[in-house]
Amino acid sequence: MILDEHRRRAYLEAMGIDVWLPAGAADATVVDGPESDAPAAGELGWDELASCVAQCTRCPLHRERTQTVFGVGDRRASWMLVGEAPGMEEDRRGEPFVGRAGKLLDEILRAAGLSRGQVYIANTVKCRPPGNRNPEPGELAACRGYLDRQLELVDPDIIIAVGKVAAHALLGSDAPVGRLRGRRHQFGDVPLVVTYHPAYLLRSPTQKRLVWEDLCLARELAAERRA
Ligand code: URA
Repeated sequence: MILDEHRRRAYLEAMGIDVWLPAGAADATVVDGPESDAPAAGELGWDELASCVAQCTRCPLHRERTQTVFGVGDRRASWMLVGEAPGMEEDRRGEPFVGRAGKLLDEILRAAGLSRGQVYIANTVKCRPPGNRNPEPGELAACRGYLDRQLELVDPDIIIAVGKVAAHALLGSDAPVGRLRGRRHQFGDVPLVVTYHPAYLLRSPTQKRLVWEDLCLARELAAERRA
C-alpha cells in the first residue's frame, strides 16, 4: 500500500508531532483548509474523490479555473503517469495532457505500445495555474491528498513522474530532472521513474531518446513488480 500522506499528517498532528511542509507551503492561502468540513481524501472512493475535486476550493487556483482536471484512463492501470498541472486546453476540456504536449505524450506512449486508455494520467494539481506558471508549494500541498488518493486507488506497478514539478513533488527532491531520470526511485512500495516533460521535448527534440530509455526502464520495473 502507498502511504497516504494526508492520513499520515492527520495521525502525526493528532499525536502532537510537528508536520513539516515543503518550503512556502505554510504561507499559501488555503481557502478551505483542513479544519473545514471537507472529507479527508484518504477515505474516499473514486466517485466521491472526483466529486470532492470538482467542488474543491482549498487553494486560490479554484477562482480562475473553467473546471477541474481530475485524471483520465484506466483506474486499475499498471502504469500511472503524473504530470504538472492543467494548461489552457486542459482547463477548457477537463482532461489532462490534451494540448500540444499531450499529443506528444500520446505518441511517446504509443511508441511504448500503450494507449492513453491503458494508463492512468493525473497531475500534481487539478486546477490551471494562471499563465501556465508552475504550481506554488501551497497549491501543491492543498491538492496533494487528491493525488495521493489517486495513487493509492490505482495502486500501479510503476509511477512515471513527468517533468520537474511532478518529480520534486513525489520524491521531495530538488535535483534537476537530468540527475533524477534514468534510474529507479521508490514511492512507498511502488517503483518510480522520472522523465522529461513533453513540453520540454517540444523545445529539445533530441532528448526524446532519453525518454525512450526511461520508458524501457519503466517497463522492466513494472514487469518485475508484477512477477
Ligand atoms: N502539462 C502537464 O503537466 N499536465 C497537463 O495536463 C498538461 C500539460
